[in-house]
Amino acid sequence: MSDIPLFFGSSTGNTETSAQIIADEFSSNHDLMVRMVNVADIEVDDLVAESDKIIVGVPTWDDGELQQDWDYLFEDIDDLDLSGKKIALFGHGDAMGYPDTYQDAIGILAEKFRELGASIVGLTSVAGYDFEESKAVEDGKFLGLCLDNDNEEDLTEPRIKSWVAQLATEF
Ligand SMILES: Cc1cc2nc3c(=O)[nH]c(=O)nc-3n(C[C@H](O)[C@H](O)[C@H](O)COP(=O)(O)O)c2cc1C
Repeated sequence: MSDIPLFFGSSTGNTETSAQIIADEFSSNHDLMVRMVNVADIEVDDLVAESDKIIVGVPTWDDGELQQDWDYLFEDIDDLDLSGKKIALFGHGDAMGYPDTYQDAIGILAEKFRELGASIVGLTSVAGYDFEESKAVEDGKFLGLCLDNDNEEDLTEPRIKSWVAQLATEF
């Protein structure tokens, strides 16, 4: 299998750090290579990677908005053809500080990626999370992996390990 691209945006480093943990986990325990790409360095067409499997990391900023670098790409995203792509999303957020827009960015990107033909994999349970509202929730599940280093950093690594094991079967 070719490398799996992991496209991330990160303003204060949390999503980048988790991207690296995800890449390390895939290579150490699942024999799969992940290639990290900071979306600050690419054009929107680069998202149509040669791989059918794509990982996306997006934190939520500005009360329910995409992180800035994703926001720039999003302006020009409508012409992409993502049909046949399986996309797994993870995000960072702050459930205590922003309980009504918790991880909205995952929901915003998931909806757009589906519109463009992709299927979303790597859904996770909301059990154990404490928040009010989130665009990342559909039918009682998150449309990806939600991480929260502001309040529960100790859970980040175990959550990633279990999600990567799930993706290794869903991809
Ligand atoms: C001004 C500001 C607005 C934020 N808005 C949200 C939000 O609406 N929802 C959320 O879940 N987290 C929100 N956060 C929390 C960030 O997503 C969180 O700190 C995250 O770890 C940042 O990721 P990064 O370091 O990869 O940029 C906000 C943080 C700040 C400082």
